[in-house]
Amino acid sequence: MKHDVKDMKLAGIGKKRIMWADGDMPVLAQIRERFEKTKPLKGKSVACCLHVTAETANLVRTLKAGGADVCLCASNPLSTQDNVAASLVKDFGIPVFAICGEDRNTYYKHLNQALDAKPVITMDDGADLVNVLHTSRPKDAARIIGSMEETTTGVIRLRAMANAGILKFPVVAVNDAQTKYMFDNRYGTGQSTVDGIIRATDFLMAGKKVVVAGYGWCGRGFASRARGMGAIVIVTEVDPIKALEATMDGFAVMPMSQAAPIGDLFVTLTGNKHVIRPEHFKKMHDGAIVANSGHFDIEIDVKGLKKIAKKVNKGVRRCVDEFVVGKKSIYLLAEGRLINLAAAEGHPASVMDMSFATQAMATEFVVKNAKKLKPAVYNVPIEIEKWISTAKLKSMSIDIDKMTADQVKYLSSSGEGT
Ligand code: ADE
Repeated sequence: MKHDVKDMKLAGIGKKRIMWADGDMPVLAQIRERFEKTKPLKGKSVACCLHVTAETANLVRTLKAGGADVCLCASNPLSTQDNVAASLVKDFGIPVFAICGEDRNTYYKHLNQALDAKPVITMDDGADLVNVLHTSRPKDAARIIGSMEETTTGVIRLRAMANAGILKFPVVAVNDAQTKYMFDNRYGTGQSTVDGIIRATDFLMAGKKVVVAGYGWCGRGFASRARGMGAIVIVTEVDPIKALEATMDGFAVMPMSQAAPIGDLFVTLTGNKHVIRPEHFKKMHDGAIVANSGHFDIEIDVKGLKKIAKKVNKGVRRCVDEFVVGKKSIYLLAEGRLINLAAAEGHPASVMDMSFATQAMATEFVVKNAKKLKPAVYNVPIEIEKWISTAKLKSMSIDIDKMTADQVKYLSSSGEGT
């Protein structure tokens, strides 16, 4: 079996991590049990480009249990858990092409190795496989019956491709399912971003001024977690509705140029580029910390920071580089890459349970509906979302009310008024 991982000797610890995460992924486990019996993905080759974590391992195990031939490459050069990658190869017979810290060439070589497996289905976190298929592998693109997308940034790209009429196959916007973004983006990113920052810096949130760039689901999640730990949170936004929402949620809202001299910690979660630029770095106080928790490493203008820095001290701690700008030190975390996956372990398994249950069921949906689907972006069917949320509640021993027959009738009639 072809593969490219850092060190197969790491497999033992990787397997322990995978099984630990599995204990917190009961919904995915339930799907895996059903998949084992019914084999809905039988004979389908699936290439996944995801963060190679213990949680992802349990997703690819589930796809394999469903009868798929699965292979996995990384969706980010810094997020691979090398021990998990080794265990997937050794203990679960799944080809993995991913090494933490791989350079750009190796990253793309690995993507292409996954596509060499001739998949009919792909799964992306950031649309890189779809992108390579569209730009350099048209013959392979013609074979794809459907694809799944995990992240906001990827879905934005794919919708733009669909609108421009260049999307070549159907894609399911898994990110846009409520069972994904309301939990993973908000509580997952919220907690794991705090986790990454603290592991990298030992930062105390209480009493600090934390600037959150972007008030989408991820920004909302991180702002609320930081406030919960006692930080004084400032939000920056370009969207007036989101800015108003942040204001009414009780946060100070101002442009980055005003926040720059105030903040102790800056975190970008926008999906856009160069949200923090040299003009902002120059205004920051000595010791300011800057991190990104958006998908791509473009939100902080790192090149711009390098240009204005007199000196760069790499690795003053793990995942921390010091940039000396004038007389001040500015600390950049994880080279401006996803802080939660580079410095910590990504979102907790309990929340990835829902995201990856959605991925697994969306894959089954694509196989079942392959003949009907057109090259377009599809939402996850609501029945799948209902099943997953019900199963998650059940796994947490939470019961909810059922409507009475009278209530059902009331909601479906227009006759009853004041
Ligand atoms: N994205 C964010 N957290 C993740 C995790 N733990 N595994 C895979 N993808 C992720």
